[in-house]
Amino acid sequence: MVSDTLVEEIRERADILEICGEAVRLKRTGRTWRGPCPLHGGEGPNFSVDPARGIFKCFVCGEGGDVFAFVMKQSGLDFPAAVRHVAEKVGIEVPEFDAGREDPWAHIREALAFAGEWFTAQLLDERAGARGREYLAARGIPDEFWGTFGMGLAPEGWRGLMDAARSRGLADEVLAAAGLSATSERTTEPYDRFRDRLMFTIHDLRDRPIGFGGRSLGSDPGTPKYINSPESPIFHKRSTLFGLNRSRHAMRREGFALIGEGFMDVIGLHVHGFDTAVAPLGTALTSEQAELIARYASKVYLMYDSDAAGLKATFRAGDALLAVGVHPLVVSLPSGEDPDSLLRASGREALDAFIGDAVDILDRKLQILERQGYLESTEGRRRAVDGLLSTLRAVRDPALRDLYLGRAAEATGVRRETLVSEVTRTAEAARTPRPRSRSAAPNLDVPAPPAAEWTLLVLLLRDPGLIPAAESEGLTAEHFRHPGLRRIYESTRTRIETDGSADDLHDPADTELFEALGADATEFVHPNQVFDETVRRLVFREPLERLGHIDRQLMLADEQQARRLLVEKSEIARELRRAGVSLSFLRGYALAEQQVTQSSIES
Ligand code: UTP
Ligand code: MN
Repeated sequence: MVSDTLVEEIRERADILEICGEAVRLKRTGRTWRGPCPLHGGEGPNFSVDPARGIFKCFVCGEGGDVFAFVMKQSGLDFPAAVRHVAEKVGIEVPEFDAGREDPWAHIREALAFAGEWFTAQLLDERAGARGREYLAARGIPDEFWGTFGMGLAPEGWRGLMDAARSRGLADEVLAAAGLSATSERTTEPYDRFRDRLMFTIHDLRDRPIGFGGRSLGSDPGTPKYINSPESPIFHKRSTLFGLNRSRHAMRREGFALIGEGFMDVIGLHVHGFDTAVAPLGTALTSEQAELIARYASKVYLMYDSDAAGLKATFRAGDALLAVGVHPLVVSLPSGEDPDSLLRASGREALDAFIGDAVDILDRKLQILERQGYLESTEGRRRAVDGLLSTLRAVRDPALRDLYLGRAAEATGVRRETLVSEVTRTAEAARTPRPRSRSAAPNLDVPAPPAAEWTLLVLLLRDPGLIPAAESEGLTAEHFRHPGLRRIYESTRTRIETDGSADDLHDPADTELFEALGADATEFVHPNQVFDETVRRLVFREPLERLGHIDRQLMLADEQQARRLLVEKSEIARELRRAGVSLSFLRGYALAEQQVTQSSIES
């Protein structure tokens, strides 16, 4: 076991801020640092780290303690393993202890380690490796980077690795489980997955190999240029970024990350001193990968190809990053170039200049829309809004969101409030056209009725028989905040009760509104769902708004206020859940709806 004094020394030397900071982005607030709790996966800044005292605390889930407690809870390690983990970070040697505990995937790790060594040995082999070394030289990758990225060579032939592994006593099943061998439909006899390829090792954040990528060295157009290890118990592509183990410290230092499209871009960037570069593994950037980046950087330069596919990938990655509060900027390289080819042709300064010219992701969208002439006609601007929506919807950072709405409104000439309500509409509603009155309204200064109230009333007027169903869900006239809509609802309600007519609308503006509602020809794809959702939106609007309000207050709250707000928040959430409101419904809704109602109803 580790002696108590050694544990003390490790605790003393560890930087709890740095260790917690690997799991969560922390911002300084006075003596403590705050961020969303990585342990219960919260969103508000309820997780607090006090570096002077070496402790952390989450005001929501209640977890707290020293640096070892954090590592244990975060990684699921036991105490000795957590001590060892922290000791490694602070450079203290810990004598071997408690070797009885077993890693269930030790056999896979062993196979990967063996394969990595074997690939390297092939690359270094005088004769067998010549081809690989020539390729690396041609691509400008000096040998001091071979180790960094675990480079190697998978030779031609079907069983080089398998035979070597067998003679080492590694079972076929283990190679298969590690993704190193494959079988085909034609033969059940396994063969090497990676053949005639330059190999890259994919590491986890503790620098352990978890998989490989291989670039084809042959000229057979029938084989893919790149292949990766398949998923395994220790290799999850969605949550792995190539190069992150090497670049995360630089990311934290610099505050930004560079994202390229693949292995060669990352390696080329590192070779030229851009040490914050990472890439996803042959797929679009996932939300898990975006989360990972958010731990280390608040800004990302996207360096995808500038063709149509690259742009699409850029905007998808941008949305994923905005959704976790990271600010994406787009680097536009000359067509046909990627960071690696540009660096090799023109060097570091050339790429630096392109990075310097990077534009914010929303501005890049606007640029493209403008160049394509979308901003010149009314119909074009209408469609431009659709193109901007995913970005406006994704952005999480309140200040950036505000800026984006302003810029989008200015560029498209669509009122900010309208944009806000477009952004608020759920995926379901997004498939249905707007209430007609909006586009038909001649006077744009008249506040538009809130979307949910409007939509529900359209449905209720088409089928007043739905009113009792709405009432049994708790809907009352008071839930309509728009005075005209409320009067129309009331009159419709009495009409079905008394079998009477609608002649109790006295205000001509109400009659006009009533007619506009009746003229709304929106065809709902799933009217029942729209009905349920709009009723819930109105019935639970106040608690939902309160939740949004709390979230904003929390950003500025001190510890005591935060605790009070969080208690209130969890009470509201519990009430809502008890009433059958799902969490996904709660999320994201409250904030936007409040802005819509505040700005567009009060008249
Ligand atoms: P690219 O085709 O853009 O290749 O693939 P590249 O990075 O420029 O490579 P070089 O310069 O030709 O060697 C970018 C990334 O897309 C994935 C890989 O992750 C690659 O790094 N990819 C590409 C595949 O997964 N399979 C493929 O067949 C091709
Ligand atoms: Mn390339």
